[in-house]
Amino acid sequence: MSETPLDVVSISGVVKRFGDFTAIHDASLTVRRGEVHAIVGENGAGKSTLMNILYGLLPRDAGTIELFGRPVTFSGPAEAIAAGVGMVHQHFKLAPSFTVADNIILGSEPLAGYGRIDRARAERDTAAISRRFGLDLDPRAVVGALPVGLRQRVEILKTLYREAQILILDEPTAVLTPQETRELFATMRTLAESGHSIVFITHKLREVLAVSNRISVMRQGRIVATLDNEGVTAQEIAGLMVGRSVLLRVKKAKAEARDEVLLKVDGLEARGERGEAAVDGLSFAVRSGEIVGLAGVQGNGQDELVECIAGLRRPVAGSVEICGTKAVADPRRNRAAGLAYVPADRGGVGLSLASGIWENLTVGHIEEFGRGPFLAIKAARARAAELIRRFDVRGATLDKPAGSLSGGNQQKVQIARELTRDARLVIAEQPSQGVDIGAIESIHRTLVEMRDAGRAVFVVSADLDEIFSLSDRILVIYRGRIVADLVASETDPETVGRYMGGLEEAPPAAAASVSEAADHVH
Ligand SMILES: Nc1ncnc2c1ncn2[C@@H]1O[C@H](COP(=O)(O)OP(=O)(O)OP(=O)(O)O)[C@@H](O)[C@H]1O
Ligand SMILES: [Mg+2]
Repeated sequence: MSETPLDVVSISGVVKRFGDFTAIHDASLTVRRGEVHAIVGENGAGKSTLMNILYGLLPRDAGTIELFGRPVTFSGPAEAIAAGVGMVHQHFKLAPSFTVADNIILGSEPLAGYGRIDRARAERDTAAISRRFGLDLDPRAVVGALPVGLRQRVEILKTLYREAQILILDEPTAVLTPQETRELFATMRTLAESGHSIVFITHKLREVLAVSNRISVMRQGRIVATLDNEGVTAQEIAGLMVGRSVLLRVKKAKAEARDEVLLKVDGLEARGERGEAAVDGLSFAVRSGEIVGLAGVQGNGQDELVECIAGLRRPVAGSVEICGTKAVADPRRNRAAGLAYVPADRGGVGLSLASGIWENLTVGHIEEFGRGPFLAIKAARARAAELIRRFDVRGATLDKPAGSLSGGNQQKVQIARELTRDARLVIAEQPSQGVDIGAIESIHRTLVEMRDAGRAVFVVSADLDEIFSLSDRILVIYRGRIVADLVASETDPETVGRYMGGLEEAPPAAAASVSEAADHVH
């Protein structure tokens, strides 16, 4: 192989407009053979849009794209795939009821439609390709039953089966556990060493430094810098992204938890989608003036637990109290009792993507505007405009559908709505998922301010950075039980990670303090 780096992708002067809004201004970028090239930038900077253009999902309004030295214009992803470009979106596009082999072969079977797939051959091919790239997968496993990390592996193998040379991963680690992230990085390095090129979009600067060869920074639709990953620090990248220096961890005073219990969970049991005991006798309390983080690997009962608190799921035993009122299986009543809730699933539960941004910001606040329909709409719109400014929702106008916002800006909309509710208990699931570091700083600061104002904050996250940056107390959930109750300042990510993996038994003291907490509350 030649020693000189070869540009396999060369994007030059690309422009993209949505109506009269210009999302990409004159963006230029090269990707070399065999490199991992990270793209970072604030929410709405244009990262996904630029990559969607390369992948043929969106047409461009100006500029050129060369692939392996030849100019290309794709009219759809099928053409990009045929030319050697693969993309894995944050929201996977797999068929959940099909097997791994079916999903990997689906759409590439040359003669028959997928109804007449040669199953034995599909399984043989899948096994061969997973061996070739060292990505272990059972070809017969049903995709819907796999953990997220393995589903992502199916997506990656699917592009490799189609002989992708250039692989675009849009925020692939947002949904992964630390262990899955390490495995993904090993895969990325192996692929790069075998001559593939990887474009890696992420908001986590530690990951950028850990895995990439070069780093491009996008700001307001332009690539403003491309750096070699040598001697660069997270602070420097953050500064280039945001145009100011950023606190990578919010400073906060010591918590002053008061005695008033605002969330009390007592002997809670709940079943999951398949009837399994997902929440298996849980008791804990969150008090006014503290932030309690719930750490756990996805799928250990945290979804079901939060659904029971929010009123989206009926428990089979035990009880939940919100600000002294018994919770019921009715989200509206639990909100009325004093609950604000930021769900992880912003597209499904949290937002109505087809509705206007102002409407999304107003739901749940209607009571504040009850002064006759016209006044109410006017007041609600004025307040929505104020929230857009305050929470720095980029690219927003009042009437744009929420779905046209970039991923991180959608998250800011649901954060803005929920954190401005007059609620004493705040439950936030992955509150900073997909948001850029500047916005994480402001979301974290808001949560700490709420704590200091005497609210109770319960943060559920698989991201240990987030858990440690926010929590005063850390609970670890494993197989539907609380296996540790730790003071954040007296523990470390390693220890919490071991509890998350079920590698550490709860010491008797921790177990006692959990049940004690439950006994304590009136
Ligand atoms: N279909 C669309 N219609 C209108 N505007 C759009 C559309 N898609 C994207 N935009 C706008 O283009 C800009 C760039 O969005 P893009 O999704 O590329 O950002 P991003 O850098 O990927 O951000 P994030 O980190 O939040 O994912 C945003 O202001 C967004 O609102
Ligand atoms: Mg994006």
